Amino acid sequence: MSHPSINAERLLARIGELGAIGRDDRGQLTRLAASDAEKLGRDRLVGWIEAAGLDVAVDRIGNIFGIWSNRDNAEQLPLILGSHIDTVINAGIYDGCYGVLAALEVIETLKEQGSISERPIVVAAFTNEEGVRYAPDMLGSLVHVGGLAVEAALATLGTDGTTLGSELVRIGYAGSVEPGSLKPHAYVELHIEQGPVLEREATTIGAVENLQGISWQRVTIDGVANHAGTTPMAMRCDAGLAAARVGLFLREHIARSNAPSVATIGTMRFEPNAINVIPSRAVFTVDLRDPDEDRLRMLEAALSDFLRRLEQEEHVKISVERLARFEPVIFDSAIVEAIEVSATARGLRSRRMTSGAGHDAQMIARIAPAAMIFVPSRNGISHNPREHTDPADLVAGANVLLDVATRLVGSR
Ligand code: GLV
Ligand code: MN
Ligand code: MN
Repeated sequence: MSHPSINAERLLARIGELGAIGRDDRGQLTRLAASDAEKLGRDRLVGWIEAAGLDVAVDRIGNIFGIWSNRDNAEQLPLILGSHIDTVINAGIYDGCYGVLAALEVIETLKEQGSISERPIVVAAFTNEEGVRYAPDMLGSLVHVGGLAVEAALATLGTDGTTLGSELVRIGYAGSVEPGSLKPHAYVELHIEQGPVLEREATTIGAVENLQGISWQRVTIDGVANHAGTTPMAMRCDAGLAAARVGLFLREHIARSNAPSVATIGTMRFEPNAINVIPSRAVFTVDLRDPDEDRLRMLEAALSDFLRRLEQEEHVKISVERLARFEPVIFDSAIVEAIEVSATARGLRSRRMTSGAGHDAQMIARIAPAAMIFVPSRNGISHNPREHTDPADLVAGANVLLDVATRLVGSR
């Protein structure tokens, strides 16, 4: 059976074009949420959405929607397809952008084919998915589902001292639509896997059935600054050493527990940050994840017990601030099955899998049936400029998204 297919050339060209926006003078791609660079990316996306003849809506938290509807289906709840276009620091070009541009491509394809969808189809680009500049991550989709009040989200303080609200105003993306007013009938997000599983198994399509829980905390350790040369080791209150012990503890604890949990200390800064001064303060972030809520709680408790012990052993004071906490999510089994069936119909190998990364789909799953499609990541690398997916796999994933969307909206 022959299937209509997306315009591969247009999709790949747009991924490349968006990937060129936000490069610094060293050629590194950094499009942090609501930054100048991200504004340019947003403008380009909106340009494409408008050129495709869709209605553009921007809500108060800056989420962008491109809506394809007609007089007959406008009263129906829409199918939303989407992801994000903000990036981490020194990012790859596929994370998030692929899902947004493939969603637009699916709508354009259906439109060009003269399909008449029984529901509106919407492409969504959610604000601040990465959470690098403003915590928590998945903030735009969290607000969309009512998990965080829009006023609180707008007041979020960034790593650079800005507030998200003021930055959205500055870049012209503080929209007027009330967040959450676009309620989905269903939501599907296409994304690169960002891990090694699909490539290792020579499988093109991941039908993502669940997503692990995420716990983010900021830890501050206060010790006493003193002379690096004159202070005997036994007399130190060394905030830097205490911080280093946290990283080691997490690695050894997870290895001992034999769980699939992962832990990352991705940022750390010392005060006064001088070569010959014992750090008086260490501030760092901890990212803990596990697909099982009980295990994630046990890991959080183990960290908390260790920090209390560390205070005694290293003569320091420790405080912890929670930045994000999301429980594991189980996706909609009917959509997962539709992904598998669609892959098989195109002669593509698929497997069910767990998402290790956080995604907007985990938020939308609170209010509507949702699931995700993954395609392979070369060497499992992501959040890195070496992030790469074979163009044939990008096209295959977008075609599966097209087929799943067609099944979900009912079209003629
Ligand atoms: C988002 O990319 C995350 O999983 O941190
Ligand atoms: Mn992403
Ligand atoms: Mn990411």
